[in-house]
Amino acid sequence: MKTRLSLQDLVKSKFEDHLFVVVSNREPYVHEWAGDKIKCVIPASGLVTALDPVMISCGGTWIAHGSGSADRDVVDEHDIVQVPPENPRYRLRRVWLTKEEENGYYYGFSNEAIWPLCHVAYTRPSFNQTDWEAYRQVNRKFAEVTAQEIGDRKALVFVQDYQLALLPRYMKERNPDVIVAQFWHIPWPNPEVMRICPWQEEILQGLLSNDLLGFQIRYYSDNFLHTVNACLECMVDWETNEVHRQGMKTTVQAFPISVDFENISSESRQARVTHEMERVRRQFGLTGEIVGLSIDRIDYTKGMPDRLRSIERFFEKYPEYLRRVVFVQVAASSRIHIGSYRRLHAEVDNLIEKINWRYSSGNWKPLVYLRENTSQLTIAALRRMARLCMVSSLHDGMNLVAKEFVASRFDEDGVLIISPFTGAARELTGALIANPYATDQMAETIREAIEMNIKERRTRMRRMRAEVEENNIYKWAEDITSTILKLDSGRSP
Ligand code: F6P
Repeated sequence: MKTRLSLQDLVKSKFEDHLFVVVSNREPYVHEWAGDKIKCVIPASGLVTALDPVMISCGGTWIAHGSGSADRDVVDEHDIVQVPPENPRYRLRRVWLTKEEENGYYYGFSNEAIWPLCHVAYTRPSFNQTDWEAYRQVNRKFAEVTAQEIGDRKALVFVQDYQLALLPRYMKERNPDVIVAQFWHIPWPNPEVMRICPWQEEILQGLLSNDLLGFQIRYYSDNFLHTVNACLECMVDWETNEVHRQGMKTTVQAFPISVDFENISSESRQARVTHEMERVRRQFGLTGEIVGLSIDRIDYTKGMPDRLRSIERFFEKYPEYLRRVVFVQVAASSRIHIGSYRRLHAEVDNLIEKINWRYSSGNWKPLVYLRENTSQLTIAALRRMARLCMVSSLHDGMNLVAKEFVASRFDEDGVLIISPFTGAARELTGALIANPYATDQMAETIREAIEMNIKERRTRMRRMRAEVEENNIYKWAEDITSTILKLDSGRSP
């Protein structure tokens, strides 16, 4: 079993003379003003959930956009803050963006072009020249900051996600000796879909400047290889999953991302979680109802309206469950300046209001909506209270909410319902699979989950816990590190 310590040993023994640098758009800790106080918030991001334990284990520097209102107030003169705040283990270097840069690079090209392009969720991508220029400019800015951090030291730069597709190229242009690896957290579509991006060639060139490029599942890495094969002059070696182009080689492989199983499992056992469960029950007047739980960033890829419609259908078909089952939706917003996200917020609010109006009686209502600022402690309590957890993404690279739920259930109870269009559905063999587009099927699956006996719940949960325990976040990081080592041994010392 891979652990925090085994990863530490591997990195220390093999990369001792290298600086370890993670670069992402989203930062792991955001400082916000709350009245006249500063609070530190952990953003809703699978990338952060996965990478923070890795950085705590390995140390190093994480470079990311400083997006919080108080971020500038807590950094030193080099724009560094040590994190986690309560027990610092690594450096967070903040990159400052102007409103125009954030608008074009983050809201515009990253989230109105690449995000909908890569997710089959039927939201049309829009390609805007000004956004593209901002995307280039900000990727250059991240490369400059990364180069400053590295100086003339040997470094391993680990780039995260689709906001930074051009960064590897800008890094290699400055310093061809630096090892650059990138992990693409979201799906990669087939070549036909990718073709519509007017700048696909430049994006692919950026990604092929990596020594190693990782995807969540084999299907996405295969899609990527087919895309470069169709679009660029290059040689794809289908045996070794390597792309050779202009004297450079990129290895393209799948590394399913995961969570810190041990930590989540042991945190979940703590007495303070048990106390919080009692507090949550009192707050929402839960007196023995079966709890269904969903936790999402409010995003059109997560299938929230589809899930709500299936819950409505469930109560319609099985009214005997009225007053006996309550669904809790925990949600966090991001990207709210984008029209499609604002419309989604309104749609979710309306559906919740409509379903609660239709079915509530006395002080009982079928849906509890916790929008924004739900603490990690409350989330831990809800995970333990839940008989079922529903993940209904229309398309999702992995979905770590599912793995966190499994990791937290040390009592080996609880049913996971998961969409087949998530990476996680391929690994979690004890889950019930339900297509979010098929409202009736999903409603039936809810019933099946609720009526499942304890013996079967245990068997399924045990199986999933073994899967997540074995394939934990340290295994993911070690697999990537070992692959880089193999590549590096073929390079000059
Ligand atoms: O996992 C995909 C991802 O887009 C990450 O890159 C990102 O941090 C997370 O989802 C949340 O999105 P955002 O950072 O845009 O709020």
